[in-house]
Amino acid sequence: MDEAQALSAFFAPSPPVLENAAHTEALKARIDPARVPQHVAIIMDGNGRWAEQHGEARIIGHMNGVQGVRESLRGASAIGVKWLTLYAFSTENWNRPSDEVEALMDLLVRTVVQEIDELHENSVRLHAIGDIDSLPDACRETLQQAIARTAGNTRITLTLALSYSARWELVRMARLMARDAIDERIIPEAIDEKAVGERLTTKGMPDPELLIRTSGEQRISNFLLWQIAYAELWFTPVLWPDFREEHLFQAVLDYQGRERRFGLTSKQVTHP
Ligand code: IPE
Ligand code: IPE
Ligand code: MG
Repeated sequence: MDEAQALSAFFAPSPPVLENAAHTEALKARIDPARVPQHVAIIMDGNGRWAEQHGEARIIGHMNGVQGVRESLRGASAIGVKWLTLYAFSTENWNRPSDEVEALMDLLVRTVVQEIDELHENSVRLHAIGDIDSLPDACRETLQQAIARTAGNTRITLTLALSYSARWELVRMARLMARDAIDERIIPEAIDEKAVGERLTTKGMPDPELLIRTSGEQRISNFLLWQIAYAELWFTPVLWPDFREEHLFQAVLDYQGRERRFGLTSKQVTHP
């Protein structure tokens, strides 16, 4: 299989329900390619409730959540999103029962091993933010190998937020800044938004224009607090394992229908 064939196979719409495929394609066709968000961030929520609804253990919900990852990545790539950031495990999630935490870490390693060839063939660059040092050794090593292997890819950057929380990141930023001040690399008067941004884990990434959360919850749960200052928020009751390309396309369409004013008046935005 050559690269073009591999790309079209991976990013082709999922085949099962024809009617649904047509609906997905129709949504996709309505998206204005000139105004696609560069960076979409997703709070993947609802795996546990999905499992409960199916009479399964929570980990089965997490396993089925991998489908949501595939679909969102495929959909984002298909419309030209350059950065997709997925909240996979929060600092607070360490407080879940230890068997769930272990199973999640194990699932992460297995998924990365299983999907890495396909990600690489499709020019996906894997990246991670968060307290990566706190992950179990096997997890961290597998992740680092996958990140190194895909480092040169350019189609889309898939960032996994792992052992991540925005307050952890902001505290880390403050420590880095204080260290730089003590070592005379920066003076307090020179601290501006750019200086802060350069000390966040998202350094070099554009801010997300669109933040999606599944499962009906309408909260941020300590995700990217600085970076989403002006993001458009999109909530859906769909549980993460049921998330499909069509949901991503609908979110982007709704995003494109909104007026982003950044503090200006509507008139200023429409007649600059
Ligand atoms: C999201 O699903 C996955 C993680 C937070 C790791 P949940 O496990 O939070 O699912 P619910 O919220 O209990 O349904
Ligand atoms: C947010 O989901 C964290 C991730 C998606 C990784 P949670 O399920 O942990 O959030 P809360 O506890 O409902 O706010
Ligand atoms: Mg949850």
